[in-house]
Amino acid sequence: MTLGSPLTVKPAMTGGAKMSDELFRLLREFIYQQTGIYFQDNKKYLLEGRIGKRVQLLGLNTYEEYLQLLKYGTRRTEEMRHFYDAITINETFFFRNEPQFEAFEKTLVPSIMARRGSSTRQKLRVWSAASSSGEEAHTIAMIHLERLRIKYPGLELEVVGTDISNNVLETARKGVYRDYSVRNMPKQFLDKYFAVEDGRYLVRDDVKRLVRFENMNLYDQAGMRQMTNFDVIFCCNVLIYFDTQSKIQVVSNLYNALNRGGFLFIGYAESLHGISTAFKLENFPKTVAYKKE
Ligand SMILES: C[S@@+](CC[C@H](N)C(=O)[O-])C[C@H]1O[C@@H](n2cnc3c(N)ncnc32)[C@H](O)[C@@H]1O
Repeated sequence: MTLGSPLTVKPAMTGGAKMSDELFRLLREFIYQQTGIYFQDNKKYLLEGRIGKRVQLLGLNTYEEYLQLLKYGTRRTEEMRHFYDAITINETFFFRNEPQFEAFEKTLVPSIMARRGSSTRQKLRVWSAASSSGEEAHTIAMIHLERLRIKYPGLELEVVGTDISNNVLETARKGVYRDYSVRNMPKQFLDKYFAVEDGRYLVRDDVKRLVRFENMNLYDQAGMRQMTNFDVIFCCNVLIYFDTQSKIQVVSNLYNALNRGGFLFIGYAESLHGISTAFKLENFPKTVAYKKE
């Protein structure tokens, strides 16, 4: 296949083909340059399996041809979308880190509201960075509808969910989920904010109206500079895929995206130790948040 030809589907490389160590290193470098994600040596099997499927589907003969296509093919922009879908791990569910949502509702929002003063209408901007299929963003919107808007009648919530994978963003925008996603959901929320159809859970429109989803690569400097004026950022369970240098770059951009007095949450298995000293660490029951003072 020539690099410029259409991506037709024809059988070529058979499933499970081996990726040489050299090609693994080249692909790893390419992925790192584009996304900040760093595949350790022990994750070669993962790339082999996931990219192998694309190589096969496109009727290519080798991983090398695929890398050439990504770099120089006339359809590289289109293939990059599939590529990002293929290499990302999108595990998520509603109310995933409950103590974070508790801290958000009971301490962070009151602290941000107090800082701004009362009476007038107040906008609260929350960013679910690396939102995957949108469960975290929708959780925040539901907490607002359930309690925050009653406590703060002037509060206008805007939640922005972003991810590098278009596949998961499609699910996020539809707001249609399966059992797995709602397994940690308090029953009162499930009954109130979803319609159930054919075993699927459809997020109600008043929740969806508070949230918008956009494609955004956290490692893209130009795009990140557009993200400003956020009061709270949830950037959970994605830093683990980055190396130290890309973590430093991403976290510095997240810091710039926050308003003074705003907060950053990261995942339980993640830490800013050795990554940033710009934030003040604040402790909450069973969780921590990073404050921009
Ligand atoms: C494990 S999910 C975490 C979802 C959610 N934040 C949570 O904690 O449940 C990680 C997400 O990060 C996204 N991701 C990985 N690298 C990214 C990057 N460079 N820019 C934006 N999103 C990225 C993946 O597509 C995936 O949906």
